[in-house]
Amino acid sequence: MKILAIETSCDDTAIALVEASGIISGPKFKILKSIVSSQIEIHRPWGGVVPNLAKREHIKNLPKIFDKLKIKSDKSKVDAICVTVGPGLEPALWAGIEFAKKVYQQLKTENKKIKLIGVNHLEGHLYSFLLSEQNKTVNSKSKLLITKQTKRLNTKPHPLTPMFPAIALIVSGGHTILLKMETPIKWKKLGETKDDAVGESFDKVAKMLGFPYPGGPEIQRLAEKGNPNAIRFPRPMIGSKDYNFSYSGLKTSVLYYLRDNPKTKKEDVAASFQEAALDVLVKKTERAAREHNARSIFLSGGVAANKELRRKLKVTSQKLQVSFIAPPMDFNTDNAVMIAVAGYMSMLRKKNRKLVANGNLSI
Ligand code: KG4
Ligand code: ZN
Repeated sequence: MKILAIETSCDDTAIALVEASGIISGPKFKILKSIVSSQIEIHRPWGGVVPNLAKREHIKNLPKIFDKLKIKSDKSKVDAICVTVGPGLEPALWAGIEFAKKVYQQLKTENKKIKLIGVNHLEGHLYSFLLSEQNKTVNSKSKLLITKQTKRLNTKPHPLTPMFPAIALIVSGGHTILLKMETPIKWKKLGETKDDAVGESFDKVAKMLGFPYPGGPEIQRLAEKGNPNAIRFPRPMIGSKDYNFSYSGLKTSVLYYLRDNPKTKKEDVAASFQEAALDVLVKKTERAAREHNARSIFLSGGVAANKELRRKLKVTSQKLQVSFIAPPMDFNTDNAVMIAVAGYMSMLRKKNRKLVANGNLSI
């Protein structure tokens, strides 16, 4: 089926056209078109994303991007429209939902059976593992393996690595979540942040160092030239028995360190902060993978673009002899392809969400 997906939960206006096929244990995706228009420059002077500014920009950009995709001139018809309904900034979410409804009415004249589906943004990040290069090979030769089938597979070994159960780490500007995925459609939240999200702490520390929003890429760039062991910042909750996280104390430690050491090398602060922030993510993910006998570790969300985090989790996965799967670079930060993927999985699960913006929707 051909899916038109719309994402406007924060400061990226994104539309994609994706062809989806297959079943729950073996879905396949072909990206036909995908555009992401960033509003970073507009929000930068404010030091963060301003919800009503974001809404205004989405309303302005959505029709422009839609026209650019030339969907109406395509021969085959759109079968479903998937739109993000939460979590995110509610004014921004509404812009996407209202636009999706309008397009739905237009396209309905050509295809009476067209569907309009609400999608959870976090499921979008979660399911972006289905876009990884590694998964492409899995899909071309076999189906995604689900736990129910593993018994049989244990006795008759399968040539490809089974993927489930898996531990999924979702790390973005708004969320830090660890999940256990039993199958591609069944998961349990193991833990999440109790205060700031890890991406948010990257943004705040970058701001303290005088760098613009979003701070993640700036910290990564500085950290490459610094010493990660120069300053011993705290690793909050690293030893706690649960799978929760906390990033506000680490951020405050950096603030005090900068106040007391104004001549310090920014590169060392960035590298040492990044080391502390990632250390907690990696240690908790490793413990979850061991405790739950995971066969894979999935990484997603904007912070999954961090090269050092990818490197560390890859090393950990090799040590544990599990697969490490992260989306290609274009699909870590917000995009509409992941919304099409999650929307397709929702349709296969026959799960539909209300077309109402919900800023606090959980996974
Ligand atoms: O998933 P995303 O685009 O939006 C949300 O759903 O929040 O994530 C954005 C977050 C920002 O906090 C940004 O600083 C962070 O991802 N980020 C990074 C990197 N690239 C983006 N953090 C660390 N290292 C990066 N390379
Ligand atoms: Zn996101």
